Amino acid sequence: MADRDSLKREAAARALDFVSHGMKLGLGSGTTAEVFLELLGPRVRGGMTLDCVATSERTAAQARALGIALGDLDALAPLDLTVDGADEADRALNLIKGGGAALLREKIVAASSKAMVVIADESKLVARLGRFPLPVEVVAFGHGATAARIAIAAAALGYADLAVTPRLADGAPVRTDSGNLIYDCAFGAITDAAALAAALSAVPGVAGHGLFVGIATTLVIAHPGEIEIIAAPTPAAPVPRAGSAAPAGG
Ligand code: 5RP
Repeated sequence: MADRDSLKREAAARALDFVSHGMKLGLGSGTTAEVFLELLGPRVRGGMTLDCVATSERTAAQARALGIALGDLDALAPLDLTVDGADEADRALNLIKGGGAALLREKIVAASSKAMVVIADESKLVARLGRFPLPVEVVAFGHGATAARIAIAAAALGYADLAVTPRLADGAPVRTDSGNLIYDCAFGAITDAAALAAALSAVPGVAGHGLFVGIATTLVIAHPGEIEIIAAPTPAAPVPRAGSAAPAGG
């Protein structure tokens, strides 16, 4: 039976079929996205030309180490494609992201892309979002008050007694690449992702949240022995090219 790491690798490998020479490409964050970069590196060193934008400092460091040159989003947008992982995805292509605290840049880059391909092992595909606590990125100034307002906004939508927990690492608050804090919000089951996304975005002090609604265009889900492609009905999702995406040396 395939383990999760093997499934991540299979999803990442399949996503290479969506990448072609000359593309402007957003590079996601997290362990699945790291595998995608590992597989992309030899293509680039073999001659594939890409203009890439990283969604986190960690991804940027990995890309440079692999010989993948990076550019500036402002200069390159709109990108052709972003490939990224997710913490949860449903069949309507709504996502929860931010387990790696990169959600704000991930969303900026994905929203600046014509397409977003999400790569994941099957454990990430859920009937309903919300078992994974939703990461919300909060400006440090007044963050406790902002957290309280998140709970109030959630209660207005029927999510009573929401646990809003500051994310810590080694006892200290996690700081994002943008210097903000993360609060993890245990919704349990999100009944209307679009309504919740709008409500969270309206809370002053919220820099961003991990609900991605209407952004992903294709899910590449690895099951044991099978890759499932789930595409958004409109606009047209990118079609993977047959055969290898590398011009040479891949
Ligand atoms: C980081 C993310 C990641 O894409 C998400 O956490 C999935 O990570 P992994 O591939 O390691 O399971 O959103 O902010």
